[in-house]
Amino acid sequence: MTDLLAVRGVTKRFGGVVANHEIFLQVPHGSIVGLIGPNGSGKTTLFNSIVGYHPIDGGSIAFDGREISRLRVPAIARLGLVRTFQQTRVFGKMSCLQNLQVSVPHVHEGLAAMCTRQSPAVTERARKILRMAGLQGHADQRGADLSFGQQKLLEICMALMNEPRLLLLDEPTAGVNPVMIDSLIALLTDINARLGITLLVIEHNMRVMMQLAGHIYCLAHGEVLAQGSPAQITANRAVVEAYLGGQP
Ligand SMILES: Nc1ncnc2c1ncn2[C@@H]1O[C@H](COP(=O)(O)OP(=O)(O)O)[C@@H](O)[C@H]1O
Ligand SMILES: [Mg+2]
Repeated sequence: MTDLLAVRGVTKRFGGVVANHEIFLQVPHGSIVGLIGPNGSGKTTLFNSIVGYHPIDGGSIAFDGREISRLRVPAIARLGLVRTFQQTRVFGKMSCLQNLQVSVPHVHEGLAAMCTRQSPAVTERARKILRMAGLQGHADQRGADLSFGQQKLLEICMALMNEPRLLLLDEPTAGVNPVMIDSLIALLTDINARLGITLLVIEHNMRVMMQLAGHIYCLAHGEVLAQGSPAQITANRAVVEAYLGGQP
């Protein structure tokens, strides 16, 4: 089976800082792959490279067999490769439903875009996605009035409006309370199993990783330090030391 995403030898520098050095990573169709590593190890940079946020300095990135490393964010998103951010980004003054409506890709401009966003088809899809996340009762509530965990759920719902084939999630449960973490795990499991969306997830919480990911990559100093099953990764001495060494 071919991989949905294949990162081959990707290098990314910021001035003298080598944020990613010759990274190889594969995400099979339909899988949930985890990405861990201490702060500053290059996880977010790799996401930014994959989605076309910045040009890479070496290597190649293939999505469903197609080279994408020279494409920009909108073109890559149109292929079905979408990410969420480490910092929560919902529109506080808009209702949850409106947050989803404006997340529809920009195929039209101006008035036409407004009409598309408020079309019955888009609205129905938005309501269906809110239901999946258990947010249907909050459709008319302002984004800012949701709890932090609910905002994290809403952000994933917004990403789903793009109809991704591969969703990249940057620390989806960071700062979220344990009850809401279970809701996030349930939503991500559902997205994968019921919608068939492949996931690549950055996550520090190993309890979450153990429940979600079938395979985990660990970065340290911009390089792949180890990869394996969750059990292999938690038992890996180099991984444990990288985390302990990263603490003050
Ligand atoms: N836009 C940028 N400009 C300069 N340096 C950056 C930029 N983005 C990330 N870095 C540097 O790249 C390294 C990796 O950062 P990052 O990818 O954010 O790590 P992580 O997400 O694993 O915490 C860090 O040394 C960071 O300071
Ligand atoms: Mg990061």
